[in-house]
Amino acid sequence: MDWGLQNRLARIIKPATGRTVMLAVDHGYFLGPTSKLENPRATIEPIVEYADALMPTRGVLRTSVDPKTQTPIVLRVSGGTSIIGPSLADESITTTFEEAIRLNVTAVALSIFVGTDYEHNTLMNLADLVNEGETYGIPVLAVTAVGKELGKRDARFLSLSCRIAAELGAHFVKTYYCEEFEKVVEGCPVPVVIAGGPKLDTMNDVFPLTYEAINRGAVGVDMGRNIWQSEHPVAAIQAVRAIVHEKATVAKALELFNDLKATRN
Ligand code: 5RP
Repeated sequence: MDWGLQNRLARIIKPATGRTVMLAVDHGYFLGPTSKLENPRATIEPIVEYADALMPTRGVLRTSVDPKTQTPIVLRVSGGTSIIGPSLADESITTTFEEAIRLNVTAVALSIFVGTDYEHNTLMNLADLVNEGETYGIPVLAVTAVGKELGKRDARFLSLSCRIAAELGAHFVKTYYCEEFEKVVEGCPVPVVIAGGPKLDTMNDVFPLTYEAINRGAVGVDMGRNIWQSEHPVAAIQAVRAIVHEKATVAKALELFNDLKATRN
């Protein structure tokens, strides 16, 4: 891996712990004004300082993120579909590398849809992005998307998707937590982060998910709804950070969350 690429990756996956807390705010690219992300600036501003990286589209980056931010940007560069359209999997690359460089991003991200009619297209999108990423020293995050079929989130399917992403050259991979998650990590020779998925009932569900993912080999999270759809997003992200970076137990994270929400938000 070239120096620039290693350096950018180290801005996201922190060398001190080998871990990362990424904040995903790209949901609008196919969901529109998702609940609690209707006004992206209002959602992002209070929590971005606690994230090791922020994952928006270029539209939200330009309109809703302070250019003085010190948080590295992992730019979502795939899309072209909507939740009411015929297929979420029919994605193309929406944003050029020239544009990504102009925006001073630290990495780019796209979704791949293994097992769908658009498998080949989305995998070739990944291969093309990696070719360009290697040229410019910009890492590529592959998101192993499942579209509307949330039931696909099992170790067999996710191992297949993650491994294919790594084989095509993705520098890190984002997937879902599942039973036997360690098998997904074992079969994937690049770092794996997990999405939070749809909002869980309480932090009593989110913290164990985070803890188990880390314990079974994830280098971190790229979490969205379970942070900013929380009633207490600033407390939520800090408690997630404690698990990811400080090896806090679920009980400790809950204690921290309860303390922080009582004092700040
Ligand atoms: C969609 C994405 C989202 O960023 C991802 O799902 C993370 O957010 P959440 O934790 O809300 O699931 O990549 O494909």
